Amino acid sequence: MARIESEIGKPQGGFMKWIDDRFPFTETMRYHATEYYASKNFNWWYIFGVLAMVVLVIQLVTGIFLTMNYKPSAEDAFASVEYIMRDVEWGWLIRYMHSTGASFFFIVVYLHMFRAMLYGSYKKPRELIWIIGMLIFFVLMAEAFAGYLLPWGNMSYWGAQVIISLFGAIPFVGEALVEIIRGDYSISDITLNRFFALHVIALPLALIALVFVHIVALHEVGSNNPDGVEIKEHKGPDGKPLDGIAFHPYHTSKDLVGIVVFMMVFSAVMFFSPDMGGYFLEHANFEPANLTATPEHIAPVWYFTPYYAILRAVPDKLWGAILMAGAVLLPLFLPWLDRSRVKSIRYRGWIYKVALGLFALSFIVLGWLGLQPAEGLYVQMARVCSVIYFLFFILMPYYTTIDKTKPVPDRVVYHG
Ligand code: HEM
Repeated sequence: MARIESEIGKPQGGFMKWIDDRFPFTETMRYHATEYYASKNFNWWYIFGVLAMVVLVIQLVTGIFLTMNYKPSAEDAFASVEYIMRDVEWGWLIRYMHSTGASFFFIVVYLHMFRAMLYGSYKKPRELIWIIGMLIFFVLMAEAFAGYLLPWGNMSYWGAQVIISLFGAIPFVGEALVEIIRGDYSISDITLNRFFALHVIALPLALIALVFVHIVALHEVGSNNPDGVEIKEHKGPDGKPLDGIAFHPYHTSKDLVGIVVFMMVFSAVMFFSPDMGGYFLEHANFEPANLTATPEHIAPVWYFTPYYAILRAVPDKLWGAILMAGAVLLPLFLPWLDRSRVKSIRYRGWIYKVALGLFALSFIVLGWLGLQPAEGLYVQMARVCSVIYFLFFILMPYYTTIDKTKPVPDRVVYHG
């Protein structure tokens, strides 16, 4: 008897048929893995999406185990973290995995975003993948910020104090908003409780949901590649993209190598330098929150310092807060700011290359400046770098239009 098209290739009997008759397992695996064709010319920049998923799993699993012994109260929080470090079996490992994971999450996500800027992955038809990615980034920032208050160390307390008070600069509603965030007239046990609720359930749920739709959107249009060529435009007689290879087993087996190398670097940091000289775990946070003594320099963890440097570069508090928020939000508009005809940096002219280089440099220097005291030359440098950061976005519609591009090949260039 002739089988209908959708039945071809499905298991004809046994357990898998039983499953497939009730749940689209084989179909889903085909659509997302064995018959999802991604370009054969991916380079190492393409590993960071997978690595972000690996870190997400690390954070979720270690977070669950930390929650088993952590106490979300101003009275007990600091001591419960010490208890995890000293008395809970393997507690030190779980905690260091989680704290190292937080920093690696940002390293991986920043590189993942930069890859999209190198190869124009935010351009049509991938605008929505980028926008969902930006939403992931905002939630990730909120997740890290909420998590940082939980150990109730002195930097947890004063860092939260500085950032939450920024909302107070908003005219009319500012003060009310600050009270809603804190749940109190100052940062207190109540604040700690609500940050705990956000950190362990609300924000992780949002992250997981967003990562899911990020991948659904990606698989709808297909991945970009270092040439910025649409591989779906050149299909063979079998209907498969000529330059694509199946995600599984080809990309999965290659990704496994990347995951192993990544875990080696991750382990080296976690076992030999979990505080990374004060960058991953700040020294002031090894002391309990002290409401009467601020740390010598209040600075957020490194992944927030580029934005913090922009905030402090502006003398006015409200404008500082507006520009900081603007710096975080601006990349959201990249798909419309970038008017270039080509996607990949390989075929762009010198103007974009110089602009992207200066932007990356200003971001790194701002990150370093955010860790220095806000005085003298440091503030002047932060101003220069902030101007470069903003000009990169504001002038983009202009310089991407006049930049001379090279002809893009029809098919991807593969160096075997
Ligand atoms: C938890 C965080 C994230 C996870 C787990 C994640 C996961 C992934 C994965 C697995 C891919 C496919 C593999 C790859 O191209 O590397 C991907 C692609 C992509 N992601 Fe993310 N992502 C995250 C955050 C972000 C962020 C913050 C952005 C940007 C704001 C972003 C933008 C993109 C874009 C534009 C692509 C398509 C790239 C291309 O095809 O060239 N992602 N993501």
